[in-house]
Amino acid sequence: MTLTNLGTLVEDDRVHRSVYTDPEIFDLEMAHIWEKIWVYCGHESQVPKVGDYYTLQIGRQPMVMVRDKEKRVNVLYNRCPHRGVQLCGNQSGNTGNGFVCSYHAWSFHLDGKVRAIPLMKGYDDTRWSKDNPDCNMKAAPRVESYRGFVFASLAESGPSLAEFLGDARVAFDDICDRSPVGEVEAVPVCHRVMQRSNWKFFMENQLDALHASVTHQSTGVSARRVEQRVKDEKGSAPLFFHYLSAFATSFDQWDSVQTVNFPNGHGILKAYMGLRPTDPDTVAYEDLLRQAYGEQKTEEYLSRSIHHVLVYPYLSVQSPLQQLRCLRPIAPNKTLSEIWHFRLKGVPDAIYKRSLWYFNLVNSPSTMINADDLENWTKGQWGLESEKAGDWVSFHRDHGRDTVDQGVHYSNSGTSEVVMRNQFQAWKQYMTQAASPQAKPRDAKEAA
Ligand code: FES
Ligand SMILES: [Fe+2]
Repeated sequence: MTLTNLGTLVEDDRVHRSVYTDPEIFDLEMAHIWEKIWVYCGHESQVPKVGDYYTLQIGRQPMVMVRDKEKRVNVLYNRCPHRGVQLCGNQSGNTGNGFVCSYHAWSFHLDGKVRAIPLMKGYDDTRWSKDNPDCNMKAAPRVESYRGFVFASLAESGPSLAEFLGDARVAFDDICDRSPVGEVEAVPVCHRVMQRSNWKFFMENQLDALHASVTHQSTGVSARRVEQRVKDEKGSAPLFFHYLSAFATSFDQWDSVQTVNFPNGHGILKAYMGLRPTDPDTVAYEDLLRQAYGEQKTEEYLSRSIHHVLVYPYLSVQSPLQQLRCLRPIAPNKTLSEIWHFRLKGVPDAIYKRSLWYFNLVNSPSTMINADDLENWTKGQWGLESEKAGDWVSFHRDHGRDTVDQGVHYSNSGTSEVVMRNQFQAWKQYMTQAASPQAKPRDAKEAA
């Protein structure tokens, strides 16, 4: 497979099934997408103290995000420069004031520079010395943080983080602006789910408004019944019932929810749930925001029309409920997802609990919502692995009927498959060109 004929697998309204199943294409994706673009590593609050670390994969590379003595967050290759042993074997922890290799005790500062090598005289008169940069843990060439969210790129050069994110940066603005101090912290428990399907299923599904009233109908309808019973008995039902009952929305209503599809494959599913009840907790919370930002800014922040923001090809951020899901592809048919939620700094616990409820009721692997999606994606993978059942995957719905303005594709019906068409245009661009596509950032308000 060459980079040139990869382009033939993606047409305007359909793609070849092999982009979901072929191991060679998967390897090229890792090399030409994941190991070049900016990849989300984690939130700064996951490593609050000196020596705190969190390990992750960027493409095929084992990395570690670590807080150093200067309070900087570094992203290093998790590999000893001696004979290659991974320096951090755990998912996360604290490594003290440096890394020590478990094999021959080479040690390193928290920025990766070599600190000590036992029996150094053994290297006398060899070309190995502590001044040799190859003795250091290798660092990701570029690391940047946006409002506390840390990204790294394994490419020496390329678009800046701001250029890569483009309009999708509103995900991080929206999540942080909902705090009166403009900051969030990660709740240090994340669900980790291994999906038996290609990563693209997840990314397509996040803005697939049509599937919700089919796949999640049984959950939505059952929740609506219970919600109504609670309302009849008590006069009102807590907001969390609505998290599930909203899935019982009809086809027509889903069709009226719009998607906005940006360059680089990013996109937004606009809001449909209505998350501004008038209970005392919400009123008190909105007052806190008004004291911090004033009336006008508060309204601007709370009225952005966002359900999900996608940062293609690996993040789904539900900023109004402080949720973030991140994909780490493992194989064509295997994808690890990390499911996080965040606490808005400076708000009462009642507001945090809304985020926790959503995390557990909708995004957790133990809820019917996530489980029903996972089943679809696994069955989708099995269907596409068939070599004789058909070669093409259809994205024809509303093809040619979207509005395009300055490179942004606006759906005129919520169920338009413009979402997938837009994602695959970015995929094709990444996979057939050595350079990454760039997006010109616009005003965040405009994006929402
Ligand atoms: S492999 Fe790390 S010290 Fe030898
Ligand atoms: Fe779903």
